[in-house]
Amino acid sequence: MNRRKFLTTTLAAGATSSTVSAAATPNAKVVRILGVSCSPRKGKTTSASLQICLDAAKAVSPAITTELIELAGRNIGVYDPTDPKAVQGGFADLIPVLSSPDVAAIVVGTPVYFGNMSSLCKAFLDHCMVFRQQSFALSGKVCGVVAVGAGRNGGQELTLQSVQAGLMGQNMIIVGDGRPTSHFGATLINTNDDISKDEFGVSTAKNLGRHVAEVVLRLA
Ligand SMILES: Cc1cc2nc3c(=O)[nH]c(=O)nc-3n(C[C@H](O)[C@H](O)[C@H](O)COP(=O)(O)O)c2cc1C
Repeated sequence: MNRRKFLTTTLAAGATSSTVSAAATPNAKVVRILGVSCSPRKGKTTSASLQICLDAAKAVSPAITTELIELAGRNIGVYDPTDPKAVQGGFADLIPVLSSPDVAAIVVGTPVYFGNMSSLCKAFLDHCMVFRQQSFALSGKVCGVVAVGAGRNGGQELTLQSVQAGLMGQNMIIVGDGRPTSHFGATLINTNDDISKDEFGVSTAKNLGRHVAEVVLRLA
């Protein structure tokens, strides 16, 4: 059985918590999955949630490598299409990283601010206009979204859908958190700067990472 057939049959058979072994992917091409944390607070709960998601993605196959990118401190300002110099700003060095052909998926994480994404996340999505202008350089990449709020019903789901709307503009392949919940993505609650006790939220982050990885491997 070749690798594509193996992955298709194994994953289609419902291996929801499967780890695709190295033996199953002997000549697998390495694929990268990036996490982009859109929290102004570096290393806090949005980043921690994304890291859980990325670790779950990595656990699916040795063919997968992951990397967390923090936007905090990168000086990504409001996107102003009338100012060509300000268009890219601190975003400039991310352009080749995000559009690199070996990046198969991007998971965007944002804190919930007043029921929606952070202004940094919106600035990030607006700066992604450059990819549309580069013949849709993110087209075909898989994406998922993580939202972290302080409240149980703080707007996480609305936030996920808002970010997904922006990513749809990039012609990306949007996936949710997969089975067993199969909702919009990862929804976590921050309690005193800790998400680890939010058992359900952590499971959505893990399921999202696993689902993103499974879709990436199906497409590989
Ligand atoms: C300006 C602001 C607005 C916020 N609005 C909400 C909100 O509407 N719903 C919610 O659940 N949490 C809200 N929060 C709490 C953050 O979403 C939460 O603390 C989140 O974990 C922060 O992410 P971080 O740890 O990566 O900074 C808000 C926080 C700030 C600073």
